[in-house]
Amino acid sequence: MTTTHTALLGDRTVRRVGFGAMQLAGPNAWGPPRDPDAARAVLRRALDLGVNHVDTAQIYGPDVVNDLIAEALRPYPDELVIATKVGGRRDDGGGWIGAARPERLRADVEANLRGLRVERLGLVNLRLMPDGERVPLAEQLGALTALRDEGKLALIGLSTVSADDVRAALEITPIAAVQNAFSVVNRADQPVLDLCRAQGIAYVPYFPLGSAYVGGPQVLAADPAIASVAAKHGVSAAQVALAWLLARYDRMLLIPGTSSIAHLEDNLAAGHVALDDQDLATLDGAKQLGNPMG
Ligand SMILES: NC(=O)c1ccc[n+]([C@@H]2O[C@H](COP(=O)([O-])OP(=O)(O)OC[C@H]3O[C@@H](n4cnc5c(N)ncnc54)[C@H](OP(=O)(O)O)[C@@H]3O)[C@@H](O)[C@H]2O)c1
Repeated sequence: MTTTHTALLGDRTVRRVGFGAMQLAGPNAWGPPRDPDAARAVLRRALDLGVNHVDTAQIYGPDVVNDLIAEALRPYPDELVIATKVGGRRDDGGGWIGAARPERLRADVEANLRGLRVERLGLVNLRLMPDGERVPLAEQLGALTALRDEGKLALIGLSTVSADDVRAALEITPIAAVQNAFSVVNRADQPVLDLCRAQGIAYVPYFPLGSAYVGGPQVLAADPAIASVAAKHGVSAAQVALAWLLARYDRMLLIPGTSSIAHLEDNLAAGHVALDDQDLATLDGAKQLGNPMG
């Protein structure tokens, strides 16, 4: 099975293996990293290797990750799409809380513009928080479409949404991407992926490597199905997990998260791992770990 290396994100063409920047902050995306120079070096290496889709959020840190991106990558190349998300905030202990009122979404878009030091954001995902304030979806999207009309963002996406949410959103505005939890060890979101395929919406799985919360690629490497496919191809378990995602949909865009240049390079090479039908059948036996966020 051959893998194409680029796909559309809205009207932008991006490399299918991008970079998720959440791991560049301190543990649990809270506070600064131990070594900010190393974090900036990972970002620069990602772009050197052709990454042109970076996922971030003002609430990573807060502000820490957006600042690192601005410091490391400005002046931004024209082809770079930086995706961010609004809809949540952090409490004093780093907990994640919903913050969905339209004025709050507007303030958070402005905070991302300031942190990233841009005049327009490439993609803003509306992140629905299950325990958040009950604000109708139409009101939340209304805030984002107004900001798009003002030129403050180019594309609107959705994150942590159901298929019904996607259908309801499409009645209101075009949706460029859906960012939900999904991986070889967490396939519960398959119906949303199917809907994205039917609608031609890019699908951007978070926790593509199972996430640090469940042990990440170390846990993947211990799974017999994943380990056997990795051994057959002479590649890492992380690369198998990413290649499995790429094989499922031609507009699947990856944002694996890492704070390590070696892991970044490993992840970017996953686009060259060609899984065959037998590999995919073997990977159907991978133990399901569920969604780390419940
Ligand atoms: N929309 C949302 O609500 C939401 C939620 C969560 C995440 N996200 C986004 O999705 C991105 C990806 O999710 P994630 O970072 O939480 O989880 P992930 O990509 O599934 O896994 C990250 C973990 O894997 C490790 N890792 C990465 N590449 C590796 C490799 N090649 N070999 C061994 N270990 C490797 C990382 O540690 P090292 O740093 O040591 O490499 C880290 O512990 C985030 O960065 C963020 O941008 C969005």
